[in-house]
Amino acid sequence: MRDFRRLLASFLLLAGLAMPQDGNAATPAHPHDRLAPTPPMGWMTWNLFKEDISDKLIREIADAMVAKGYRDAGYTYIFIDDAWQGGRDNRNNIIPDPKKFPYGIKALADYVHSKGLKLGIYSDAAPLTCAGYTASLGFEEQDAKTFASWGIDYLKYDYCNAPVDVETAKRRYAAMAKALRNSGRDIVLGVCEWGPRHPWRWAYDAGGSVWRTTYDVRDMWKDVTGQGGMGILDIINQSDTLSQYAGRGHWNDLDMLVVGLDGKGGPSSDLGGKGCTADEYRTQMSMWCMLSSPLAMTNDLRNDDPTAKDILLNKDIIAINQDDLCQPAVPKGRVSNCRIYLRSLSGNRWAIAVMNDTDKPQRVALPFAKAGIRGRYSYKEIWTGKSATKASSWKGSLRPHQTAVFLLSK
Ligand code: GLA
Repeated sequence: MRDFRRLLASFLLLAGLAMPQDGNAATPAHPHDRLAPTPPMGWMTWNLFKEDISDKLIREIADAMVAKGYRDAGYTYIFIDDAWQGGRDNRNNIIPDPKKFPYGIKALADYVHSKGLKLGIYSDAAPLTCAGYTASLGFEEQDAKTFASWGIDYLKYDYCNAPVDVETAKRRYAAMAKALRNSGRDIVLGVCEWGPRHPWRWAYDAGGSVWRTTYDVRDMWKDVTGQGGMGILDIINQSDTLSQYAGRGHWNDLDMLVVGLDGKGGPSSDLGGKGCTADEYRTQMSMWCMLSSPLAMTNDLRNDDPTAKDILLNKDIIAINQDDLCQPAVPKGRVSNCRIYLRSLSGNRWAIAVMNDTDKPQRVALPFAKAGIRGRYSYKEIWTGKSATKASSWKGSLRPHQTAVFLLSK
């Protein structure tokens, strides 16, 4: 890629033009952009079920995703996370745990595909995964071919038990990306090194379609216990200045949604993850959509509660996440003690999010010009459904940690 950019730079120089800068629309497109043109949406096993996963669980979740309208709302992936592995056979082929997946992964993928869904799987760029299972270092080509033969559509590739330096990380992710390209099947590569090596600067060139920006999300608003866990606000704070690195086919991944977990246990309840209020869950959905993050639900969709379902299935916020202009939101400062974010949307439309990040209720007066757009607009606030025409501002109040999102058009 670097060579390509150098060639392009020389060509542009000769033609008297400037070299495009890093980020967004200016970055020359990669062929793998087509694999995840908009942020992938689905359901992931880890946050709630951890190692307690099985063929039965995945089939039941697939059924629920179809029956309850999640698939039709755009959640088309089921991502199997860590703990599916059962080692390698005598030809070094990676195999699933025969107790958890007695019919093999191919049969499960066939079932998932028959429901109009896709299947994701998990490995790690080292000998062992984070939870200590068999991983793919040195077996990239073989494992990629195995995943392709099973009908896998997405690989989350973790980075536990690997060296800390960035060059090794780049090499190991590029090796898996190449193996996936050679596998004979389109498989999206999700880079999961959690942010310390600034993957937004290199994961796209290495062949990744999404890259995690932070350590694991916990089911909480923010880290108040000082144990270092990442709450919703902590993740927003580490991710909201990275929008320039994302665009069509390559996305900052803010980690899984915790909407509807309500402190029910699993890894997201560690480090003080006691659960969130409905306003906080709505803020997570709002900001993950404003910032174009992949959306990986983790609550038990077989027994989903109505509040979580309303949040996860809100058509307007999903449409912002999936908008065809592919331009994640940028921060625009503060108004009335609240944060504002602006996102340009296709069709001459905009989204403004106003987030009360304080612990007190706030009365808000928001002139839209403060967010960077002048003039009068028709708008709809997507969580209340309230709308107005010819408006140049909004006045209202926000509860602690509540976010309002306005969809504006001329
Ligand atoms: C890491 C990842 C998590 C999850 C676990 C599985 O912590 O960041 O998302 O995949 O490993 O062991």
